[in-house]
Amino acid sequence: MMAGVVAALRALMAKVLRVFRIPSLLLYLRFRMATNNYFPLKNEAAIREYFMRQALEMGELALSIDEVPVGCVFVLENKVIAKGMNDTNRSLSGHRHAEFAGIESVLSKYPASIFKDVDLYVTVEPCIMCASALRQLEIRAVYFGCSNDRFGGCGGVLHVNLDAGIDPCYPAIGGIFREEAIMLLRRFYLQENDKAPNPIAKRNRILNTTVENMSIDNTRSYTLLEANQAEESKPSASTAV
Ligand SMILES: *[C@@H]1O[C@H](CO)[C@@H](O)[C@H](O)[C@H]1NC(C)=O
Ligand SMILES: *[C@@H]1O[C@H](CO)[C@@H](O)[C@H](O)[C@H]1NC(C)=O
Ligand SMILES: *[C@@H]1O[C@H](CO)[C@@H](O)[C@H](O)[C@H]1NC(C)=O
Ligand SMILES: *[C@@H]1O[C@H](CO)[C@@H](O)[C@H](O)[C@H]1NC(C)=O
Ligand SMILES: [Zn+2]
Repeated sequence: MMAGVVAALRALMAKVLRVFRIPSLLLYLRFRMATNNYFPLKNEAAIREYFMRQALEMGELALSIDEVPVGCVFVLENKVIAKGMNDTNRSLSGHRHAEFAGIESVLSKYPASIFKDVDLYVTVEPCIMCASALRQLEIRAVYFGCSNDRFGGCGGVLHVNLDAGIDPCYPAIGGIFREEAIMLLRRFYLQENDKAPNPIAKRNRILNTTVENMSIDNTRSYTLLEANQAEESKPSASTAV
């Protein structure tokens, strides 16, 4: 008697499951796509361009309010967790570079230890001061657009990211949407010149779209990036039985 009821219930359950299996799979997939874990890009170059485009948008925003157009985004597990732009003028503070605004924003939401899993995308190579701060925070990697030939800390002037030191080195790969980053800066200086009391000669007021080749060599950073990625994908000792 009891066995008969159990068998009937089992049969009913099996029917219910069969009916719901496919819709629930679809529901599950939709849930996966809606969560932030879903990230359609697989190709590394496409991922870099995707995030650099967002850094450029921050640069555009800076330009629109007469700030030096440098923009950046901080990325954790393929998700932007903070954005920054050069804010030195409005805040009248010489150290409020885009990177610092972004770092502050990250630290308002996460502990400092998060940086070891975070990548920075910035339109201009970080200056020596920012490059050093990023190293102390143990940033995972930096991707930048154009080099900073006067103050650069990631190969433009010094190699703060790679030189021997106490804090771990980080790879800094330059050249992503480099021309766009340079054009943002040139548009800014044209715009500033036009506002100057003694406007410069007309021939200098045309946007120069010629860009020379980048002077920074990414080789050492690529080697470090690959070594770090190999290290990360290795199964950790605790999961190996
Ligand atoms: C800074 O701010 C002033 C006034 O707020 C503005 O006139 C100027 O264009 C801004 N930009 C720079 C880079 O000085
Ligand atoms: C930010 O702007 C200041 C001048 O307003 C400039 O000295 C500095 O190099 C800029 N750099 C970055 C990375 O934001
Ligand atoms: C435009 O920029 C390039 C690269 O910096 C430079 O070699 C060239 O002389 C510039 N042209 C003008 C007209 O300023
Ligand atoms: C710039 O780079 C291109 C492509 O890598 C190369 O063909 C060209 O010779 C380079 N020009 C200079 C002036 O180095
Ligand atoms: Zn800086």
